[in-house]
Amino acid sequence: MSDPHLTIVDHPLVQHKLTIMRDKETPTAVFRQLLREISQLLAYEVTRNLAMTTKQIDTPMQVMDAPTLDGKKLALISILRAGNGLLDGVLELIPSARVGFVGLYRDEETLQPVQYYFKVPDAMEDRLVIAVDPMLATGNSSVAAIDLLKEAGATNIRFLCLLAAPEGVARMKEAHPDVPIVTASLDERLNELGYIMPGLGDAGDRMFGTK
Ligand code: URA
Repeated sequence: MSDPHLTIVDHPLVQHKLTIMRDKETPTAVFRQLLREISQLLAYEVTRNLAMTTKQIDTPMQVMDAPTLDGKKLALISILRAGNGLLDGVLELIPSARVGFVGLYRDEETLQPVQYYFKVPDAMEDRLVIAVDPMLATGNSSVAAIDLLKEAGATNIRFLCLLAAPEGVARMKEAHPDVPIVTASLDERLNELGYIMPGLGDAGDRMFGTK
């Protein structure tokens, strides 16, 4: 994609799985399994251009300087609670990653995000940080979560989501132009309740079977 701030992963497997996830008849177990699979395909894209170095190894045939990831292990940050659905799949692909959690709820009077949990790995300033949340809707909680990660020292942050609304992308771009977004789809709009349209409904409810 030409916009360095937003990458839409239009791979056929991603789009096929996403269509099944959007379908309201898709049961919870299938939704969860597809989210796990799709998160690995998205992780492939969000980890493109990771810093590399080489190390000398012995193959059974000869010594070689082989490519390996450079720097400290990356940090995956789940924005609770729906972020955990993306986290599981990404962790399967990058099992040595460090993991953190940001919990935010929306104050019903001020409509502003309020922090209720924050635990992240040490040395955030030295890590590539990938924040995961399936739905980039208004962008309020994503912007607040990235604010907290920057306060904790992170300077190299990427944001991974399943669906994004134009309103959320614009809000993130304004507040955090240095944070690239990777998503499977840029949907049409938000409705009056802040849901992504056509979307897939409440991602947390769909993955955990709550209402
Ligand atoms: N969060 C969701 O789970 N779904 C939306 O459509 C918007 C925010």
